[in-house]
Amino acid sequence: MKVYSDYSLLDHNTFGMNVKAKKYVEYEHVEELKRLLPTLEGKVLHIGGGSNLLFKGDFDGTVLHSGIKGICVKSQDEKHVLVSVGSGEVWDDFVAWTVNQGFGGVENLSLIPGEVGASAVQNIGAYGVEAKDVIVEVKAVDLQSGEERVFQNAECDYAYRQSIFKKELKGKYAITEVTFCLAKQPALKLEYGNITSVLEGKTELTVADVRGAIIDIRNAKLPDPKVQGNAGSFFMNPVVSREKFLSLQKDYPNMPFYEVEDGVKIPAGWMIDQCGWKGRALGRAAVHDKQALVLVNLGGASSDEILTLCDTVCRDVKERFGVEIHPEVNFI
Ligand code: EPU
Repeated sequence: MKVYSDYSLLDHNTFGMNVKAKKYVEYEHVEELKRLLPTLEGKVLHIGGGSNLLFKGDFDGTVLHSGIKGICVKSQDEKHVLVSVGSGEVWDDFVAWTVNQGFGGVENLSLIPGEVGASAVQNIGAYGVEAKDVIVEVKAVDLQSGEERVFQNAECDYAYRQSIFKKELKGKYAITEVTFCLAKQPALKLEYGNITSVLEGKTELTVADVRGAIIDIRNAKLPDPKVQGNAGSFFMNPVVSREKFLSLQKDYPNMPFYEVEDGVKIPAGWMIDQCGWKGRALGRAAVHDKQALVLVNLGGASSDEILTLCDTVCRDVKERFGVEIHPEVNFI
């Protein structure tokens, strides 16, 4: 176990905010976490890779981080394999492992920053795949009682970028292990965006080819947090009613959209782009010049600068399209 006081969180948030935690604790085993819990005083914040957070200031409490590692095949038949992964594994290391084994299911989620525990909280998603499609169960520890609980997929209330761990059970559990069901004869998902054009000319495609294409697409569009602080998509894509969509479509016939169960999803990045924000800065915070859904720290931005940019962008989108967009990033 690693325990630090008055600890800089600079390396634990991809936005690059130089804030401090009163205490920072990284545990490596479930038993260690259970022993630790009764000793904690004050506020507790459990973080993963810090790729979806914006710290508004120092954290006057304990920041907990899972260092639980391990990728373990639990069972298999001729078609599927169940793999349990420690919550502290880096998400993309796990994806790389699955691809090396030739297992399918998470290759479209290549290069998403963050850790395995957070993938189950956030229901991370990209290029037509969401974590919920492959999660079987999530093991967690109740931060109050220290009791272990296993959540089956259906109990996690998964929806677009949502789960029970972000709603009713927010801040109540530490995820320790996630079990995924992967395919031994992968059915590749190539429909989203320009995956097929990136792979053009290749035959007998494998999961490794898809991973390569996704990595190329992401690298071309999304800023590297090591170079420019950011938290990936800053906003969620809003879902509007069919009526609202049809009236918008009259004015913007080229507007991209996706039909979903409860309405029509409009890409927030497209709306922000249409408002002329792509590549524009307010102080040291800016809208990324290749993907308007991403806000970036141009260097030394304060959280206030990021929040002002966020509010201004939301206001402009609301004024122009009559649609409210909401941050995906958690403000702490
Ligand atoms: N678009 C623009 N201008 C922009 C950005 C997007 O016109 O500046 C248009 C694109 O041309 C496209 C549509 O909007 O027609 C959708 O864009 P894109 O495919 O890039 O996806 P997105 O909806 O903007 C979502 C996820 C991303 C994920 C991509 C690919 C959310 C909040 N974001 O973005 O996730 O990589 O789809 O699946 O759902 C993340 O969560 O951090 C993230 C990067």
